[in-house]
Parts: sequence; structure tokens; C-alpha cells
Amino acid sequence: MRKNLLMKYFIFTLGCQMNESDSERIISVLEKLGYKSAEDESKADLILANLCSVRQSAIDRIWGRTKIWNSFKKKKPNLIVGLTGCILEKDKKRFQKNSAIDFIFDIKDLSKLPKILSDKKSALRNKKNKLDRLSPIANYFDIHPKYKNKISAYIPISTGCNNFCSYCVVPYTRGREISRPAEEIISEVKDLVKKGYKEIMLLGQNVNSYGLTLNNTNNSLNTTKNNNFPELLKKINRIPGEFWIRFLTSHPKDFSDDLIDSISQCEKVTEYIHLPVQSGDDKIIRRMNRHYTRKHYLNLLGRIQTNLRIVSVSTDIIVGFPGETKKQFENTAELMKKVKFDMAYIACYSPRADTAAYKFKDNVSREEKNHRKKILNDILKKTALENNKKYIGKVNEVLVESCKENKKLGILFGHTRTFKPIQFYGPENIIGKFVKVKITNCTPWALEGKLIK
Ligand code: SAH
Ligand code: SF4
Ligand code: F3S
Repeated sequence: MRKNLLMKYFIFTLGCQMNESDSERIISVLEKLGYKSAEDESKADLILANLCSVRQSAIDRIWGRTKIWNSFKKKKPNLIVGLTGCILEKDKKRFQKNSAIDFIFDIKDLSKLPKILSDKKSALRNKKNKLDRLSPIANYFDIHPKYKNKISAYIPISTGCNNFCSYCVVPYTRGREISRPAEEIISEVKDLVKKGYKEIMLLGQNVNSYGLTLNNTNNSLNTTKNNNFPELLKKINRIPGEFWIRFLTSHPKDFSDDLIDSISQCEKVTEYIHLPVQSGDDKIIRRMNRHYTRKHYLNLLGRIQTNLRIVSVSTDIIVGFPGETKKQFENTAELMKKVKFDMAYIACYSPRADTAAYKFKDNVSREEKNHRKKILNDILKKTALENNKKYIGKVNEVLVESCKENKKLGILFGHTRTFKPIQFYGPENIIGKFVKVKITNCTPWALEGKLIK
């Protein structure tokens, strides 16, 4: 294909790490076509938004942008705007009608983006064919991403989800879960390690069910025995080199004792677990269709903490799920006090079309949801601070990731194995290295320290 000289792109990425990872693949396709990154949106010839539909607020943000894109288009009639990512059918239909949007494509059709773009350019403003219904290709993961940095990389191990939590759009927007073959993942990790990457983040909506859903087209393995997540961790751990392995997200119903064993045996797997609980009340957990109980969650965390000794735990919580009473909410608050999370992403329930909970009455007021959210954030602030204080005086291994610009002895930023953000003074040339730092101070959200090696 002919290169698009001096064409510039701008990408909006909303949502989770999975979308960030997908955007890295989109960028790689665009740069192969000769597009360059635009310094800002107004300078772009192509604007792509990679959407998240988990909450209405993100979709509303895109509606806000359409006004701005329409105003850009008045000044720049050749501007092309496209949408991709997690979008509900009903939203696709509405976006399709908006004059700001030229096309919508399924991320699984990424390999067809060059054709879509060349068609759009020749038939710009042909409003008939906005929604590109192209059949999904087997594996968009074959497209090599342009990783955002040279230290840490996201590697999707699966996409989609089969869990159908009653509030969640992901199974509808991303489809059923498909795991990538282990060989493909391993060769991507080997390549990254060879290039000097120090942190590998394995991504999936439910990494614990990896392998149950292998895309078997070119892979004769259909078992879970040798191809499950604990085995995958062991295989990646055996790759020679100095690097850390992280993974998210874990589902409490699928977090097995084998996985705990595997984490404790694999020295490269770090001591950080993201384990969304969503609610601390059994009845709500059941109505969320999550398939565990509060007791199971607490026992599981107990086993994790006993086996791994040092571990930091983060979670996701939804407040104001339909019918959540004050008492049921208090059960969540009490669970948070008990667990003492290091981090929690607390969201107000947002009704989503297509999901099972959509037919329940959204009867907790916005004000009450915000009030509940604040109570939980206050608990988090206390427990996170309490946890961080325990680091003071201790020496931690840190991966140095960045630096405040232009300083010989600048402020460096990194993370501990337990995924605690940390800052300390040091020379720029240790960026990308593992160093030892003595922790001297902390806030609920970060550590401060002194470089000792
Ligand atoms: N696969 C992950 C998370 C996917 S979505 C898991 O199983 O937990 C990320 C987070 O968004 C969820 O954990 C949940 O806390 C939040 N979320 C999902 N749907 C939501 C909704 N309808 N309203 C509010 N928050 C929601
Ligand atoms: Fe959504 Fe539940 Fe799947 Fe997570 S596990 S992506 S919350 S359906
Ligand atoms: Fe959002 Fe899709 Fe991730 S709906 S949270 S971007 S999987």
C-alpha cells in the first residue's frame, strides 16, 4: 500500500489495559501505513477513539467529543474519525447517525483497517457504508504492537469473557473468551526479554480461566491440564533473563490453589494480585452472578497471604448495585476494613443495556452512590496508609521506570515488586534497571525512598 506522507493520527484510549494494549496494535498498523502521531487532536488527519462501555460516563465523553470533531471537520473537510473498542450495538447505531463519525470497526478486524481507510479516503462522506461489517479474522493478535515504552509491556493472553456478571457489558462488547496459544505468548515474551523489557503484564478479563477457551484452529491442545494459567506462568518464568511477570485480572471463583503454588514457585512472578470482589454482601454477589461468597473470598485471600507472605492486593468494587441496602453496603465497608486493601477502584453502579441487571430497578440515588463511594475511599485511604507504613525502614527491589526531566540527579519513579509506586533521587541512567531502595516515607498512594544500590 502507498504510504500516506505526512498524515497524522490521534488516538483516544478509554477503559482498561486491554484497550491500551489494543491501541498499541492500532498504532503499529497506522505507522506501517506511514501515519505519524499528531501532537494534539486538532492537528490530526485521522482521529480514532478506542471506546470503553463499562460505564455510561465514558460513552457520554465521546458524545461530547463528537461536537468538537464536527467543528474540526468544518475547518478540515478531509479529517477522518473512526470508532472501535468496546461499543454496545445500540450505541453503534446511534454513533453511526452522527455526522462526526466516518466509520466504526471491530477491533478483531484490525488487519482490515488499511482497506477501510483507503476506502474512506476515496469515498469520504459516503454515508451509506459507515458501519463496516467485515467478518472477524481469526487472530488480530498476530499484528505486532508498537509498545508504549521500552521497559514494561502488556501482553494479552485472552480476550472476551464468558462470565456474564449481571452488571457487565464486556461479554457483549468483546464477545466470548478466546485464549491465545501458549507458544504465541511465549515467543512474544522471549522477544521482549531479548529487547531488554523488564516487566511483562499478562492481560485478560479473567486470566485464571486461561486455556479453557483456546482458539484451537492451529493448536491441537484442547486440555486444561498442561495449558492452564498456572502452567503458563511456569513456562514464562523459565524464560531466561531478568524480568518481572505481573497479571490481571483474577476472578475469585477461578483462583486455584495450583495458581497460588505456581506464584510462590515462580520467582519472576511478583507479589501483587488484583482480585475484584465487587461487593462484600453474599446476596449482592449472587445477584451480580459472580459465583462466590464473601467467605470464599476471605478464605482465598487468607491462603494467598499465608503462601506468599508479602503480597499487595487491589480490588474493584461497585456501590449502589440495584437493590443494595444500607446494611448490604455496610457488609462491603466491613469487608474492606477487614482485608485492608492496598488499592481499590470503586465505581458507582451504571445501568448498561443488554446486561441482566439492566432490568433491575436502579433504585439507589446518585447522591447515595457517591456517599457510599466516599465512605469506601476513606476506608481505603486509611488501610493503604497503614500498609505502606510497614514498608518504612525496609529495603525493596524497584524497577526504575521514569524520571522528572532534565536533571542529573532527578526524581526517579518506579514500582516495587508489590506494585507500589515509589519515588527517590537518582541518576537518569538507571532507568530500566532493578535497584535497591530503602523506604523512608509514604502516603496512602506511594512510597518515598533512598537509593542504596
Ligand atoms: N474482568 C474484570 C473487570 C472488568 S470491568 C473483573 O472480572 O472484575 C472493570 C470494572 O468495572 C469491574 O471490575 C467493575 O468494578 C466495573 N464495572 C463493570 N460494569 C460496571 C457497571 N455497570 N457499573 C459500574 N461499574 C462497573
Ligand atoms: Fe465483566 Fe465479570 Fe467478565 Fe469481569 S468477569 S469482564 S466483570 S463479565
Ligand atoms: Fe471497558 Fe472494554 Fe475494558 S468495556 S473495561 S475497555 S474490556
